[in-house]
Amino acid sequence: LIVVEQIETVPPRYIREDVADYPAPSDKPLPCVPLIDMAKLVELEHQEVELQKLHAACRDWGVFQLVNHGVSGELLRDMKKRTQEFFDLPLQEKKRYEQKPGGLEGYGQHFVISEEQKLEWCDMFFLRTLPTQVRNLEFWPGQPPSYRDTIDTYSKDMRKVAVSMVGYIATGLGLDAEEFSKAYQDGKYQLRLNCYPLCPEPKRVLGVASHTDITGITLLLDCGEMPGLQVLKDGQWVSVKPVSDAIVVNLGNILEIMSNGIYKAPYHRAVVDRRKERLSIVTFCYPTSDVEIGPAKELINKTGNLPLYKTLTHEEYLSRFFNWKLDRVPFIDTL
Ligand code: SIN
Ligand code: FE2
Repeated sequence: LIVVEQIETVPPRYIREDVADYPAPSDKPLPCVPLIDMAKLVELEHQEVELQKLHAACRDWGVFQLVNHGVSGELLRDMKKRTQEFFDLPLQEKKRYEQKPGGLEGYGQHFVISEEQKLEWCDMFFLRTLPTQVRNLEFWPGQPPSYRDTIDTYSKDMRKVAVSMVGYIATGLGLDAEEFSKAYQDGKYQLRLNCYPLCPEPKRVLGVASHTDITGITLLLDCGEMPGLQVLKDGQWVSVKPVSDAIVVNLGNILEIMSNGIYKAPYHRAVVDRRKERLSIVTFCYPTSDVEIGPAKELINKTGNLPLYKTLTHEEYLSRFFNWKLDRVPFIDTL
């Protein structure tokens, strides 16, 4: 955990040599992450055009900002406010929810598995939220009051968004939207709250190092106006500028594999700032564990393309991820 008061230099374990200075120089202005309007996906009149935009966004970026998603502004504000209040609690209070050794749930840091590993400039709070049976309520914050209810409502609303979006994404690929949506209706959801404290040497550290998500999709809500999330697009780090009440939708490896590589799980990272703290609220969305992780059969049959990825059971897929974290072997099995 990072204690920021009066730190003037960054401890060596956070310093990285590979934080490329903000976007590489180029004659062209950097492109903007696409914006998708969910209201238009729903209305018959606009659906076709918006589906095309969605398809292009998933193919060319693997990430987009979603507006008019139907989640109430009041709930978003509540969630942001309570998350801020949580991180503002004294360290001793937050430590009541501290991660257990070897566990990810609770307050602490992302996987720290070796002494040499570089650390990320980020305090996080991680919870399994859905289905409700997987909850470990001992980690659910009792402070600020009613935060638990807000998290409960928020995770269910994010599930609604995920179910709809996965359906539209499947439609964009010419696949069975119902089947995809169903797998996420009963799927697994996790919440990661991030706090990126002020940093005296922001260009020498990362809040989150470059990675792709192992999810189906990831839904991110920025708590303020401060950008921090960056997506790798054509060799350049592009900042995602927070759009008020928009949800950043990020495709994970599961959708990349299922789309047989037509869609990409983008590399992304979080940078930090010298003067302003940043908070983000991230929802990881996974299909039910009976879903095999492999290129969609219809896609292979229809296009005549060869499958580019091996098909794995859900368990195999997840264990590859953990092995990847530990041994650094490439974890997407391409054929
Ligand atoms: C991430 O997706 O891991 C970075 C999240 C963030 O921008 O806070
Ligand atoms: Fe991520």
